[in-house]
Amino acid sequence: MQRTARGITERNITMSSITIFGAGNIGSAVAGLAVKSGASVQVIDRNPDKAAAAAEGVAGAKFGDAVISGDIVVLALPFPAYDEVLATYADQLAGKTVVDVSNPIDFTTFDLALPAGFKSAAEYVAAKLPNSTVVKGFNTTFAATLATGENDGAPTVVQLASDSETAKKTVAAFIEGAGLKTVDAGPLKRAQYLEGYGALQIILGVTEQTPWTGGFKVVR
Ligand SMILES: NC(=O)c1ccc[n+]([C@@H]2O[C@H](COP(=O)([O-])OP(=O)(O)OC[C@H]3O[C@@H](n4cnc5c(N)ncnc54)[C@H](OP(=O)(O)O)[C@@H]3O)[C@@H](O)[C@H]2O)c1
Repeated sequence: MQRTARGITERNITMSSITIFGAGNIGSAVAGLAVKSGASVQVIDRNPDKAAAAAEGVAGAKFGDAVISGDIVVLALPFPAYDEVLATYADQLAGKTVVDVSNPIDFTTFDLALPAGFKSAAEYVAAKLPNSTVVKGFNTTFAATLATGENDGAPTVVQLASDSETAKKTVAAFIEGAGLKTVDAGPLKRAQYLEGYGALQIILGVTEQTPWTGGFKVVR
C-alpha cells in the first residue's frame, strides 16, 4: 500500500466485484470504468435489458429480483430514489462498501434538498445503513468526464470522502485501475462540501457557462 501527499494510491488491492444500481448516465459511465479496471461488474436497473447494455462485459439484472453480487455497491440513482432502494436492499447491503454518487438538488430551485437534520446525502445513507461503509464519490465529475476518462486534456480526478480509509482506498483502486485519478477529500462529513461543489457545477452547466463535457477540473 502506498499513500502519497497527492491523494490515495493503493497498488495491492485485488478488485473483486462491483454492483451498480442504475444504468443511466453515471451508472453506465461507472460500469465502464469498473469493467476497464478488471472487476466483475453487475448492473441492477428496473429495466434489465438497459442494465445489461450499460457497458460491455457487465451482467445485467432486474431491480427487486436481483441479488447483489458486488463487494462495492454504487448507488447511481437520483437521491429521491434512495429510500426505496435502501429499504429493498438494506439487508444485502450490510457489510458492503456503498458509494453515494448523488447530488441531492431540488431542480425547481437548485437548492440542496436534504432530509431534515442531515448536512449531506452521504450522511443520510450512512444513517440508513449502519452496517455498511459509505463512501461519497463521483458526484463532482460529470458523466462525460468519467466515460472518456479525461477532462480538458488531463485524467479525470474523482473526489472521495469516507470515514473508512480502507473503503476509500478500495474505491480509489478501481478508479485508478481504469486510468483516472482520485483525491482524498477527508471523512464523510466532508460530503457536504462535495455536494455543494456538485450543485454549483450543475448550476453553471444549466446556465450554459460551463460545458457538460467538462465542468470543474481538479488538477493533480
Ligand atoms: N449525470 C451526471 O453527470 C452526474 C454527475 C454527478 C452525479 N450525478 C448523480 O448521479 C445520480 C444518477 O444521475 P444520472 O445522470 O445517471 O441519472 P439518469 O441518467 O436519469 O439515471 C438514473 C437511473 O436511476 C434509475 N432509477 C430512477 N428512479 C429509480 C427508482 N425509484 N428505483 C430504482 N431505480 C431508479 C433509473 O432507472 P430506469 O432505467 O428504470 O428509469 C436510471 O437507471 C444522481 O444522483 C445524480 O445527482 C450525476
